[in-house]
Amino acid sequence: MRNIIIDCDPGHDDIIAILVALAHKDELNILGFTTVAGNQTLDKVTNNLLKVETYLGIDIPVYKGYNSPIVKELDVQPLAHGESGLDGPVLPEAINSAKDMHAIEFMKKTLLEAKDKVTFVCIGPLTNMGLFLKTYPELREKIDQIVIMGGGIYNGNVLIKAEFNIYHDPEAAKIVFDSGVKVVMAGLEVCYSGSILLTETERAKDGGKASKLFYDLMKFYQGYAIRNGWDRTAIFDATPVIYLLYPELFKSEEKEVYIETVGEYCRGMTVVDTRNRATEMKNPKTVLISTDREKFVEVIFDALNKLDAQY
Ligand code: RIB
Ligand code: CA
Repeated sequence: MRNIIIDCDPGHDDIIAILVALAHKDELNILGFTTVAGNQTLDKVTNNLLKVETYLGIDIPVYKGYNSPIVKELDVQPLAHGESGLDGPVLPEAINSAKDMHAIEFMKKTLLEAKDKVTFVCIGPLTNMGLFLKTYPELREKIDQIVIMGGGIYNGNVLIKAEFNIYHDPEAAKIVFDSGVKVVMAGLEVCYSGSILLTETERAKDGGKASKLFYDLMKFYQGYAIRNGWDRTAIFDATPVIYLLYPELFKSEEKEVYIETVGEYCRGMTVVDTRNRATEMKNPKTVLISTDREKFVEVIFDALNKLDAQY
């Protein structure tokens, strides 16, 4: 059993990652969710998560974090996730509200009270994680690892060389990557290697409650792939969760990774040192390289089947 906090900006793929985690309660104990502005505003992403909790009938505590990056202006992504940040599914109004405590205060309280180390799963911009590490550096030793969806070894998505979660708050990402805490980076390349075929999504069409949510999310989310003529789409944020559950499905390498915070073309880039300098590495990250696509996708559908039987 691993105690985790999921920091997120729901976001279609954020919700799917959360569904996979919810289906593995015996392995992943979700202590709480923290939300951060990214795909949409802080209020919208938080409300999206609360509505999904109401739909599923769960009440894992939700704590709001920062509503803007440390330096950059907020830069939401309606193209990929819609004006609500979770366009597509019709969800009930949220019954619960976010807790009054700020996300980083929840992180602090949780680590102070934890007997064992806690793992952070960060699937949005790293504003909350970065400012927590900056504010409470003495608590870094209570963190087992920070597993992020973010960055890329060779390319970006929102910019030529910058992936959205890092691009959105490079200063926060730099704090996280330079913190000395163990970081596992699920960048674009490994996420793309686990892409789901548009035809595979249809497997969820006539399923139960969780499958219906997945299907309705994907019908909107994969519109971006269809508009680009692709036959598949990456469910980016599911990658860190599936890595924690089934690390054997992944190829990874230990690499030094630096965050570019200046530069006209490369601000937000994860500069991965792909030279073979193993003996010189001081603070290497575990960089996920690729996964077994079929098995990765099966983990998602197995999770949906488990949740359909529960909810
Ligand atoms: O680049 C992909 C990331 O940006 C994912 O976390 C997605 O939810 C968006 O936040
Ligand atoms: Ca996200």
